[in-house]
Amino acid sequence: MLGLSTVAVAILLPAFASAIPKHHDRIQCPVIFDARIPVKTSRADFNDPTRSLFNTEYVKGQNLTWSSIIEFPNVEPSVFEDRKTHKPFEVTIDNDSIFVISQGPQIGFRRAGLLHKDDANEEGADEADKGVVTFHWSVKQDPKKPLNLTHEYMNVWHERGDYMGNQFTFSMGLLLPQDGGDGINTRAKREQFRVQDNKNNIIFDVPIDWKNWQNFAVQLDHDKSTIKVFYSKGKDRLRAVTKALPNDNTGGGQLQLGMAKKPTETETVVWDGYHEVMKKKEGQIYGGVFVEDNTQGRRGCFSE
Ligand SMILES: *[C@@H]1O[C@H](CO)[C@@H](O)[C@H](O)[C@H]1NC(C)=O
Ligand SMILES: *[C@@H]1O[C@H](CO)[C@@H](O)[C@H](O)[C@H]1NC(C)=O
Ligand SMILES: *[C@@H]1O[C@H](CO)[C@@H](O)[C@H](O)[C@H]1NC(C)=O
Repeated sequence: MLGLSTVAVAILLPAFASAIPKHHDRIQCPVIFDARIPVKTSRADFNDPTRSLFNTEYVKGQNLTWSSIIEFPNVEPSVFEDRKTHKPFEVTIDNDSIFVISQGPQIGFRRAGLLHKDDANEEGADEADKGVVTFHWSVKQDPKKPLNLTHEYMNVWHERGDYMGNQFTFSMGLLLPQDGGDGINTRAKREQFRVQDNKNNIIFDVPIDWKNWQNFAVQLDHDKSTIKVFYSKGKDRLRAVTKALPNDNTGGGQLQLGMAKKPTETETVVWDGYHEVMKKKEGQIYGGVFVEDNTQGRRGCFSE
């Protein structure tokens, strides 16, 4: 946010105006959770609760550390990042990405997911559960760590506090029938990104771009009980790709971001099904992850 003093300095010293990071122009609203990674961050910082932006315990393979999961790919920053201040990151999974809960190892998943450390699970416990908020993220593909899109991947989702569902889900790969898939296996259905509503209806889909950044935003209006999706490619401005559609946004919970690879030939999704032995890591590149408040600050603000 540009304070008055910054504006004053810019007026007094026009020569330095260009030193103001450009991404400030693109983020228009108060930020609730900033999950953009400062350029100086190391992989080991993700292991340290005092230095990481994220919860360091959840959600990852039992015997893995975040420093072995997170990588910093050598790619151009995404649209809401400035190379001087922030850098993209990659979340990886492999054969050992098995999360263990009290009921046992979740062998249906290969998963690694980040939770912002200030994102509380209880309904109403943080500002992202109220009013009008927009969840922003950009994704890019890593040709060196390809996914197996015969499987469904959940990449970004807001999970209810009672873990009984998601207010929205961003997924790719072949959608399982349990998650709203129609059981038809085509290349188009494998190689797509989807935004699903709280009932798993697909409200937006777009082919995966193998070269460019793809930018997504999901706006939840907790007062009007609606969801609206925005999308753009590369450095283009976001534009609405759905209307405000009815959605049940209640239940609080947390934003999860990373990869949850689901099994094939499964009944329960979590506890059974097939996974090939993964000989190599699979990765998804993220940038420009933040959650903004569209009710505070400038009226009707939205970062596009
Ligand atoms: C990982 O792969 C090895 C073989 O490379 C296999 O023995 C092991 O059971 C696999 N682990 C899991 C959790 O699937
Ligand atoms: C983690 O390591 C322990 C000890 O070697 C092993 O018993 C357990 O199965 C491992 N967990 C996973 C999910 O591979
Ligand atoms: C991709 O997944 C399918 C379904 O599990 C499996 O049959 C296939 O062997 C996998 N492909 C690779 C390259 O691992």
